[in-house]
Amino acid sequence: MSKKRILRSLLILVTALGISALIAFVQIESYKKTVPAGSSSGRAATVAGTPVGGPFTLTDHKGQPFTDQNLRGKYALLYFGFTYCPAICPAELQKMNVALTQSGVATDKIQPVFITVDPERDTQDVLAKYVTQFNPALIGLTGTPEQIQAVLKAYKIYARKVEDPALSDYTMDHSSYIYFLDPDGNLLGLFGVSSTPSEIAAAIRAALD
Ligand code: NI
Repeated sequence: MSKKRILRSLLILVTALGISALIAFVQIESYKKTVPAGSSSGRAATVAGTPVGGPFTLTDHKGQPFTDQNLRGKYALLYFGFTYCPAICPAELQKMNVALTQSGVATDKIQPVFITVDPERDTQDVLAKYVTQFNPALIGLTGTPEQIQAVLKAYKIYARKVEDPALSDYTMDHSSYIYFLDPDGNLLGLFGVSSTPSEIAAAIRAALD
């Protein structure tokens, strides 16, 4: 091989390596964007490659119609759960409160919302009693089983009735995430059970600064 040919081969090799490194980088970056838990930095418009969110029509704990449009113009924290939940839901709602307080962001800038996965038992009255215990600013949302199904589907929330022989009534098996949305309804972060209030507070501050 002549020197020229060797140089050219080297150049091709370096270019090829560069391209594969770039592809790997892009793949890692897009993977990072789809990782749900604690993806507080950067915009996460998708979860595991699927878009999250969308329009919904529900009823608030005061009996007023409430749609996704009611959240436009404000940041929001959404949590999906049920009022009869013995442990996880109350802890996560409490976490949301602590995060909001820690963020120091004015309450008129960010709206905490609780959406029931158990519309059968979580009627307007039940929700009203429940949400006001947590935070006077918290909005509770319920709806018909079809409306709840639609919002759960849009937000990729898994929820299922489970009959427990040890309990007099059924319980709900459900995924537990706090969704952080911007004023246009875009997903800014998704926080699981292992996320801390400080992580959520930091994400709120970062977005609102
Ligand atoms: Ni729960």
